[in-house]
Amino acid sequence: MWLTDEQIERFHHDGFLALPGLFSSEDAALLRAQLPALYAERRPENWREKDREAVRTAFALHRRNRVFGRLVCHPRLLEPAMQLCGSKVYLQQIKVNAKAAFAGDVWQWHQDFATHHAEDGVPEPTALNLHVFLDDVNDFNGPLMFIPGSHRHGLLGAAHDTATTSYPLWTIDQARLTRLVEEGGIVTVTGPAGTGLIFGDLIVHGSNGNMSPWPRTIFSAIANPVNNAQVTFKRPDYIHERVFTPVECLPDDCLSCG
Ligand code: SIN
Ligand code: MN
Repeated sequence: MWLTDEQIERFHHDGFLALPGLFSSEDAALLRAQLPALYAERRPENWREKDREAVRTAFALHRRNRVFGRLVCHPRLLEPAMQLCGSKVYLQQIKVNAKAAFAGDVWQWHQDFATHHAEDGVPEPTALNLHVFLDDVNDFNGPLMFIPGSHRHGLLGAAHDTATTSYPLWTIDQARLTRLVEEGGIVTVTGPAGTGLIFGDLIVHGSNGNMSPWPRTIFSAIANPVNNAQVTFKRPDYIHERVFTPVECLPDDCLSCG
């Protein structure tokens, strides 16, 4: 599935692109059905919320489950990624961010590249975050928030926040955020399960805690051009995958076949 010129232009202008109806509600339900068994596993790939049992992020799902193993090779994710990168890609990180009902904590304002560069030594900010909503995402269950155009400022200063949530993150200070929001505003991306979303490594984004009774499960694959691989190996391989060979597409019906 290739993007139109208008979609490519919008991605470069805003720093992100929503893809309504990228997958069907049946595909989303199939993927969602895999999760309870995966969340029940006691292993480091299941990162839990601070002081809670709830899973915050379940990493490396493509190596733990056959259906997610096919999703990461899906042409509806990989073709737009290769088109925007102008290159074949490797898979840098595969996860689900669960944002459980009543329990899912915030993701502070950040640029993904701040972490990819500082922690993993990724040279250039060319990775793409490819999302598929596995639940309906609405205004109340912690949708992603973006500051449109913020990617055009390049890499901003960041501080390593190891206290706010259970997950350490390089985050942006309030004075800088205030200026960025004055310029670009804030938008959320919402939509039914199956919605797709692509955003670049420099766009400033975050999400609120989930006080609602609705879970907000989002699948995320970070795809990085093969010539832009990490050069620092501090974080475990389930947080930054170590297979740097290009990922190849499966057929479009790969989720439901076999
Ligand atoms: C979120 O799941 O709300 C945030 C994900 C991200 O920062 O990439
Ligand atoms: Mn992020």
